[in-house]
Amino acid sequence: MIRCFDLFAGIGGFRLATEKISEKNNIKFKTIGWSEIDKYCQKTYSSNFDIKNNYFIDDIKKITSPTKEFCNYQNYNSIKKSKLIKKIIPKFDFLMAGFPCQSFSSMGKQRGLDDERGALFFDILALLNSIKPNYFLLENVKRLLTIDNKKTFSFIISSLQKEGYDVNWWVLDSKHYGVPQTRRRVYIYGSLKKLEKKYPTEVPSISKKNITTKTILDKKVDKKYILSNKILKTILKHGTGGYYSKSEIDLEIARPLTRTMVKMHRANQDNYYSNKFINNDKKLKWIRKLTPLEALKLQGFPTKFYNNAKLNDISDTQLYMQAGNSVTTNVVKAIITHLINYGWFNEDN
Ligand SMILES: C[S@@+](CC[C@H](N)C(=O)[O-])C[C@H]1O[C@@H](n2cnc3c(N)ncnc32)[C@H](O)[C@@H]1O
Repeated sequence: MIRCFDLFAGIGGFRLATEKISEKNNIKFKTIGWSEIDKYCQKTYSSNFDIKNNYFIDDIKKITSPTKEFCNYQNYNSIKKSKLIKKIIPKFDFLMAGFPCQSFSSMGKQRGLDDERGALFFDILALLNSIKPNYFLLENVKRLLTIDNKKTFSFIISSLQKEGYDVNWWVLDSKHYGVPQTRRRVYIYGSLKKLEKKYPTEVPSISKKNITTKTILDKKVDKKYILSNKILKTILKHGTGGYYSKSEIDLEIARPLTRTMVKMHRANQDNYYSNKFINNDKKLKWIRKLTPLEALKLQGFPTKFYNNAKLNDISDTQLYMQAGNSVTTNVVKAIITHLINYGWFNEDN
């Protein structure tokens, strides 16, 4: 059994993928601990996973930075810190973490590792340094590769190597893995064990199914998702000022979901669909936004996941944010399956 730790767990995209793999594979994954600071994410997570015997900490910094000084390059591997972490966090074999990316994303201010949120990377290093799990898988925005003249990314890779890991990464687009959403993310993975096979140069196999947004859009939804005539004009406007960007709706492959999708955006930044596209109805003209259920589906979460969250009173606003922040579970599944074929996890059984 592979013991997993779900760090910066969000609503558990990584965990869902490992649980799905365990259903069909000889290799069994079991999440033994998780950390998530946001109470609404915690609620969605705990209404969907069996967390009874799990170790849980809301803010990982309570463990990695118990004093006022945050984890940083100088102190993440101090002996005192390492001893403390080992004492509190149970042993695990696989660290999964989509680390907070506001400081790296093209919309954020891009302060990289100097930003307190970017600095959460050092909390990952602190866990790797003290617990020494055999494997890790990290996810972040593609922009991580290039900010600060690529210095941040090369620092990240060399720090992980310094901890003894064989490290590699892929940039993968969710639209190739069974969900109709363009979402390019960098996935960094590493193994402490020296594997017989070299790391795969090819990416995890791409789904051959031609899945479009038509497969996830509900034909009938609550009226509240339909845009009013008043707002439609603004939404459908092309780019502002000197910047022209064509305003397209009815995309067969959705634009990347964002955590702010609850707000109204211009149609060149968000996903809107017409009655004509959804129901082939040319008479009754309306345009609507995605529902939270559709947003979750675009990240590979099943309807049951949404229902469980709703039973726990999670609002639409929270669900939009959670879906926009989560990892695409299908991509994680494809990566782990691919790595299993390359000898990952095998000898631990
Ligand atoms: C990019 S999201 C990861 C989403 C996750 N992979 C999923 O599938 O939903 C980063 C998460 O880290 C959480 N976070 C931020 N700071 C944290 C901290 N100090 N300790 C624990 N979680 C934190 C945020 O609340 C957010 O849910």
